[in-house]
Amino acid sequence: MDRLYVFDTTLRDGEQSPGASLTSDEKFEIALQLADLGVDVIEAGFPIASPDDLAAVRRIANEVKGPLIAGLARCRPEDIDAAWEALKDGENVRIHTFISTSDIHLQHQFRMTRDQALEQAVDMVLRAKRYVSDVEFSPMDATRSDWNFLYQMLEAVIEAGATTVNIPDTVGFITPIEFGQLVASIRQHVKNIEKAVISVHCHNDLGMAVSNSLSAVLNGARQVECTINGIGERAGNAALEEIVMATNTRPEIYGVKTGIDTKQIYKTSRLVSTLTGIVVQPNKAVVGSNAFAHEAGIHQDGLLKDRSTYEIMDARDVGLSQSTLVLGKHSGRHALRARFEELGYHLSDEELNRAFVRFKEIADKKKEVTTKDLEAILADEISQVPEAYQVAMLQVSCGYPAVPTATVSLKLPNGDERTEVATGTGPVDASYQAIAKIVNLPVRLAEYSVRSVTGGIDALGEVSVRIESGNRTFHGRGADPDIIVASAKAYLNALNKAAAAPQEAPERTDLGVAGRVGV
Ligand code: KIV
Ligand code: ZN
Repeated sequence: MDRLYVFDTTLRDGEQSPGASLTSDEKFEIALQLADLGVDVIEAGFPIASPDDLAAVRRIANEVKGPLIAGLARCRPEDIDAAWEALKDGENVRIHTFISTSDIHLQHQFRMTRDQALEQAVDMVLRAKRYVSDVEFSPMDATRSDWNFLYQMLEAVIEAGATTVNIPDTVGFITPIEFGQLVASIRQHVKNIEKAVISVHCHNDLGMAVSNSLSAVLNGARQVECTINGIGERAGNAALEEIVMATNTRPEIYGVKTGIDTKQIYKTSRLVSTLTGIVVQPNKAVVGSNAFAHEAGIHQDGLLKDRSTYEIMDARDVGLSQSTLVLGKHSGRHALRARFEELGYHLSDEELNRAFVRFKEIADKKKEVTTKDLEAILADEISQVPEAYQVAMLQVSCGYPAVPTATVSLKLPNGDERTEVATGTGPVDASYQAIAKIVNLPVRLAEYSVRSVTGGIDALGEVSVRIESGNRTFHGRGADPDIIVASAKAYLNALNKAAAAPQEAPERTDLGVAGRVGV
């Protein structure tokens, strides 16, 4: 079987998802997990976009071992130089450069002729080659480009030294059969195509990103660009877990194998969802909470007789635990550690101690602490944001008729405590007003959502919020059996990130606000 290379762009295209914004520490943590997952390439960011992005790519290139680390660059000298600046101390690095090839983009956006685009692409691949041997080139909006011009462009950049040529369906326009034909025609018409790996990068505007990618694989593409949970610009990118599990489940069709450790899929999905604040829909293939749940009686009956009657994948293969071990208030540290280990989380003593305190609090209120509860606890604990402000006390009174009123005490960065009282439209609003009086940062609450981690009246509530501060967005989350407490924790988590962020406004680039550059 041929090897299919997995190029993960969660930290670059995924981070361009509306509302997603990751701190450098969060990006680093995701990169470490992507390395455990076994991806071949991590696209760590777009170094020219902002000093923060450059620093994040640099840290990942220097410290994350295993995958190749790529940095994105437009076909511009300053972009290529910034990408190299970020990557130069890494062991195993790639510059990924791109320029549009469609007439729609060239005429209306870049006001450039095809010849100018061709010349610029070749010059920039040559420039990147002066720095590094591994260079990827992408003709942006390839699927709406003239196919003959595309062949010409690909031949020229391969001649200049590109080792991977990526075919982006930038606007999610193409259909699977057409895309397969395009990849087959590229193999037929680009004379030197054997010198490069053909890659594909599909967006999901019409819900076909994964199908398009797989059709390209059937026609000879050997690198797929994808993201965890399919997050990304607009409707997102092809979902890594779906492509990997499709090729694993149907090897007789696709004839390729990836280097992915599928048992890490669920954990990676959960981490990305927690840190980006982008919740995975329950019916999402492979990683949704219903992906392995069987409701219909006839299905349950079949499964009890033989799993293969209604399951084409084993939940354990994607890292979902089948453990029946239930933890409760009598469980000790050892049992908790053992359970985390079983779930693939190796905690330091300090992390275990913190998780244990949370576990006991929850076990006091809830009879059984499930895997999902444990993951919610962990998600709180893995937030590496310095907790400048912490909830010391929270009391609300509300009801009908009543004026919702909250009294909140916060521990301040200098160790003091301050208490404020506020009223609001509801208990959450009242708590947030009281917190805002104390923290006093100019932020706007842009999104608030609450979900129950498991079923049952005593379930943990998990709250996710997004706040805006100037040009920047910060996501916060918190979990607690009391949803008002979970709400306060989530708000403070986001405020603590805003307080810790560098104060200067991000620069503007010609493609948008730096750090949020959309390509
Ligand atoms: O969608 C796109 O065209 C891209 C390129 C930069 C590969 O993200
Ligand atoms: Zn893209």
